[in-house]
Amino acid sequence: QHVPVVVVGAGPAGLTIGAVLRAAGVDCLVLETETREFVERRPRAGVIEEWAVRGLERRGLARTLLERAQTHTECEFRFAGERYRFEYTALTGQHHFVYPQQFLVTDLVREYADVRGGEIRFGVRDVRLHDPDSDRPAVSYVCPESGERRVVRADFVAGCDGARGVTRASLPPERARVARYDYGVGWLALLAEAPPSSDCVVFGMHPRGFAGHMPRSAEVTRYYLQCPPGDDPETWSHDRVWTELRERLGAAGAPPLPEGRLIERRVLDMHGYVVEPVVHGRLFLAGDAAHLTAPIAAKGLNLALHDAFLLGDALAAHFTKGDDTGLSGYAHACLSRAWDYQEFSQWLSEVYHGTASGDPYRAGAALARLRRLFDSPTAAAEFAERYMGVRPGG
Ligand code: APR
Repeated sequence: QHVPVVVVGAGPAGLTIGAVLRAAGVDCLVLETETREFVERRPRAGVIEEWAVRGLERRGLARTLLERAQTHTECEFRFAGERYRFEYTALTGQHHFVYPQQFLVTDLVREYADVRGGEIRFGVRDVRLHDPDSDRPAVSYVCPESGERRVVRADFVAGCDGARGVTRASLPPERARVARYDYGVGWLALLAEAPPSSDCVVFGMHPRGFAGHMPRSAEVTRYYLQCPPGDDPETWSHDRVWTELRERLGAAGAPPLPEGRLIERRVLDMHGYVVEPVVHGRLFLAGDAAHLTAPIAAKGLNLALHDAFLLGDALAAHFTKGDDTGLSGYAHACLSRAWDYQEFSQWLSEVYHGTASGDPYRAGAALARLRRLFDSPTAAAEFAERYMGVRPGG
């Protein structure tokens, strides 16, 4: 079998690339290790920046999202027992769209496969990449039904298989570099079957540790609690979680937190990485396969979409117009936003975690950063721009 593009991984990055290619009449094959049901239900991120929503909309991929997503205009910081609202839409004209990633994946699978006729194989095993630096790279996989290994030749391979994928292992070890940053903190990621306690995202900076409140829907709320890296989620009982959330998110006049059953409880060791190069021969990495941002600034899904727009459009231009400018500019454009978001996450991490660091110097500096956001219009404007991913020149 030969197809112009093989996409490895049916996450937001891979499916968006596939949908863009199908709209341009280019054939591709998406390979995914999990089942369709699994990827359509797996809860992950949920915040999409306005530029990314408009990017999906321009490619005909945002119809359901625009009907169903909540739009947010502000967030709230709580520190030193007080509440401070930050109105980012008033400063940038842009919104955050809250739409759970599994809903977006569901829409994209439907659009790519059912509407635009794209080919997708779920449940494949042992995906391997062959000759990525030749003119005819290939991908092979074990077919779930027959147990046989199949080989597919392609002109290009898009490596969109996430943080635990296999495609980036094909980079030549002597040229590949993973720049990694460990934040030295863990976050207990929680999903509660409970309505949100406020209409917006709330960040609590508390001497006991950071806490976050992220509305997901009328019935489900995501919460985060800072904890030691590698902490055992089993030690976080229902009562301990809710006591700690109430304590860390407490502030004068704050509405009570509606309690609910915890349907997800995982400890994330906060880290980020950027893989370079992101292009090797005819292999192009996109999304978490190329770079991971800790959920500190809710950037991961946005970066995955940024890469997918760049790479989908670039591949479409190659096949339909013989225009390779997008492909040759891909690495630079992908990495420049990825590093920008890494740096912002690092800056924001200090704001979130400085107070509980046990180091009075870091705590004092974190408080100074926070106060400046509410005292200086210039600092507020810069923060709003970075929080929303508004970048000069797009
Ligand atoms: N072969 C094929 N598919 C694979 C393989 C493999 N060897 N390994 C992993 N996959 C699949 C995963 O099952 C998943 O469906 O690749 C897909 C990768 O999707 P994501 O992890 O969602 O990555 P991406 O599309 O880059 O989107 C990044 O996901 O982790 C969140 O916060 C992150 O929101 C961001 C988004």
